[in-house]
Amino acid sequence: MKPPQMPLPKHVAIIMDGNGRWAKKRHLPREAGHYAGMGAVRETVRAACDLGLENLTLFAFSSENWKRPKTEVGALMGLFRAYFRSDMDELVERNVRMRIIGHRGRVAPDIQQMIQDSESRTAPNTGMNLTFAFDYGGQEEIAAAAQELARAAKDGRLDPETITPELFATRLFTSALPAPDLVIRTSGEHRLSNFLLWQSAYAELLFLDTHWPDFDRAALTAAMGQFTARERRFGALDTLDSGAVA
Ligand code: IPE
Ligand code: IPE
Ligand code: MG
Repeated sequence: MKPPQMPLPKHVAIIMDGNGRWAKKRHLPREAGHYAGMGAVRETVRAACDLGLENLTLFAFSSENWKRPKTEVGALMGLFRAYFRSDMDELVERNVRMRIIGHRGRVAPDIQQMIQDSESRTAPNTGMNLTFAFDYGGQEEIAAAAQELARAAKDGRLDPETITPELFATRLFTSALPAPDLVIRTSGEHRLSNFLLWQSAYAELLFLDTHWPDFDRAALTAAMGQFTARERRFGALDTLDSGAVA
């Protein structure tokens, strides 16, 4: 008997890796790879909207990416500014709600302002949730949530015994989103690099060799199709097996 097909994922999260390698292959500076990567972001967002995806989260800059040379960090920040300026109208038109998850306080004040403006401008939108992980680190996020709960316990506002995974998750940046059911990483590395560590506990992981600037509508459609062929168990048995032992 053919196993039942999984429904399409509700939340796809992507580690957009390989801009540098894409550029190197073409004898271009790394910045050219990042620029091309912005084109892939645009195309992926459009495709995700057209496919009716409810939640798309893109890892744009990690809390560890500050360790890169100043010129590269500067170029990346310039691209974020350009993206906010050029793409916000289209996101509004497409009824997309945009959010940023990450530290916020470490980026330049004008970018902080752009983030705030874009979030409030798209807040009334009811279509796809588009989230950029920007100056984001999963361990930092978990530590901040633990700090907040510890503070509440210390002040007598919280009984430590009531801390459950569900309560903990409400203190994460992603509290408004469902957990990702599919995490994709492009460009061949098989690691999470501190991305959505808590939230990805039961995500399906898909590692692609494609460098991020080459990722497109067809790649997203194929990835979502692959997801539907997987069997998720969440620690239990599949329906047939559990039927047999019941
Ligand atoms: C991903 O591409 C973009 C960011 C991390 C900002 P990389 O810049 O990591 O590209 P590679 O991994 O060096 O090819
Ligand atoms: C992860 O990629 C961060 C982003 C895609 C924004 P990196 O290229 O920074 O990860 P490592 O250094 O290969 O682990
Ligand atoms: Mg990389």
